[in-house]
Amino acid sequence: MPSSPDTLARMGGRELKRIVYSQEEIARRVSEMGREIAEAYPKDEGLLVLGLLKGSFIFLADLVREITRPLHVDFLVASSYGSGMVSSGNVRLLYDPEASLEDRHVILVEDIIDSGTTLNRLVPLLEGRRPRSLELCTLLHKHIARGLAREPRWVGFDAPEEFLIGYGLDFSEDYRNLPFIASL
Ligand code: PRP
Repeated sequence: MPSSPDTLARMGGRELKRIVYSQEEIARRVSEMGREIAEAYPKDEGLLVLGLLKGSFIFLADLVREITRPLHVDFLVASSYGSGMVSSGNVRLLYDPEASLEDRHVILVEDIIDSGTTLNRLVPLLEGRRPRSLELCTLLHKHIARGLAREPRWVGFDAPEEFLIGYGLDFSEDYRNLPFIASL
């Protein structure tokens, strides 16, 4: 079983406290979110799903396969944490989407909203590109962000205030490949 303590020991290296969301729980929730997103937009209007790298890469890959309607995918790379466990507060845009956002429905896909710094920086930037609509979709929401520029329309799980890793989330670049989410 991928979520067993054995797998934790093999893939971890460090001691992981507990599994917070199992592979099965995540799959179920991602499938529900995909269905809700597919139903939220008229089928004949362009939809651009914008994944915020690197953290969202696994969530995004699973999510788009559950959105059964035409869509385009592009990416944005921003980084704020550096190598520590606490947000540095500086968000650097390292890669800009190639796709034009103008007059399209855009969904920005995040793995986690923590302090909200990343979204507060990115939302005005993306709004400036005049999308027809801009919505946020996040797998995890800690609900600790103050003055969030915009609340996400789709949230996978209300996450505990712990340092979470796996399913795309890292600690100093490790653990992104865990198929479940654990706390460190
Ligand atoms: C993490 C995470 C979110 C952001 C959330 O990204 O993937 O994008 O931090 O934190 P915030 O709400 O406090 O801004 P990170 O900058 O670590 O880069 P990564 O996606 O490459 O892991």
